Amino acid sequence: MCWFFLVPNLILGTKKKEKIIRNNTMSKNSLVSISDYSKEEILSILLSAADFEANPNRKTLDGKVIATLFFEPSTRTRLSFETAVIRLGGSIIGFSDAATSSSSKGETLNDTIHMVSCYADAIVMRHPLDGAARYASEISPVPIINAGDGSNQHPSQTLLDLYSILKTQGTLENLTICLVGDLKYGRTVHSLLMAMSHFNPTFKFIAPDELKMPEEYKVFCRKNGIKFTEIADLNESFNDADILYMTRVQKERFQDLMEYERVKNVYTLKNDMLTKSKPNLRILHPLPRVNEIDPDVDKNEKAYYFKQAQNGLYVRQAIMCKMLN
Ligand code: CP
Repeated sequence: MCWFFLVPNLILGTKKKEKIIRNNTMSKNSLVSISDYSKEEILSILLSAADFEANPNRKTLDGKVIATLFFEPSTRTRLSFETAVIRLGGSIIGFSDAATSSSSKGETLNDTIHMVSCYADAIVMRHPLDGAARYASEISPVPIINAGDGSNQHPSQTLLDLYSILKTQGTLENLTICLVGDLKYGRTVHSLLMAMSHFNPTFKFIAPDELKMPEEYKVFCRKNGIKFTEIADLNESFNDADILYMTRVQKERFQDLMEYERVKNVYTLKNDMLTKSKPNLRILHPLPRVNEIDPDVDKNEKAYYFKQAQNGLYVRQAIMCKMLN
């Protein structure tokens, strides 16, 4: 046995050392699901994000190393997390394509997380499997931030969605929110629905039969007293809405590509559909978009999706700072 393994035994005694090792095997600071944060914690992140929007360059992560492990493609989430870390004075390691990592040689997620946690102070991870982030958080000694796990959760997206809603509506309370498109596989709508349970929303779920909101989320709504209706037709259904949240049909989640072909262009929002909408309506979309929003809408003053993505930088700065103090 190496001498440096003996030293803690000599100083602490074996039992005390085991306790320290057990306490260090799992980080308590992870953000895996939006339900990991209380209402107060959510509001505190939004407040902190506003601070970062006013002054994004602060060296609070000086000397910290953050790993970004993206087993699935990303533009906004990865680049805004990396920008957030760089603006806070930290450094980035990681991969944007699992094919360039040793997972392509068969390394397990367990081993990857154990190795990367030897190098980094926190891990931002996107993975195709539902529950992968929760699993990683249970074995990792450093905090895990879920950057999207399958069709399950995308909590940092939700926090930037809430920040965007707050900025455009002046409140999060008592809003009417239309969730449109792929409500079955879209992780952003699942996280947003859960987060809004703190703020008495009224939801309209607008989706074709094949992409309806899964039963478990409707059960969640009923249990938490959240009002919702289900609608198949987009036209005029959002005239009383404050937020129109469009989503992409998630091609990568379909087992049967013929089914994807049938539903891929089910809704396309066009400028002339917005004429009877409320003046305060804002259109959000987690992006990337494919055909859900006609590019003509981009110039409409109600289009907010590019600004929404920019807000992600400030919110992710706030998340990193909360996580790493
Ligand atoms: N909204 C979002 O998750 O975008 P990316 O897939 O580009 O990260």
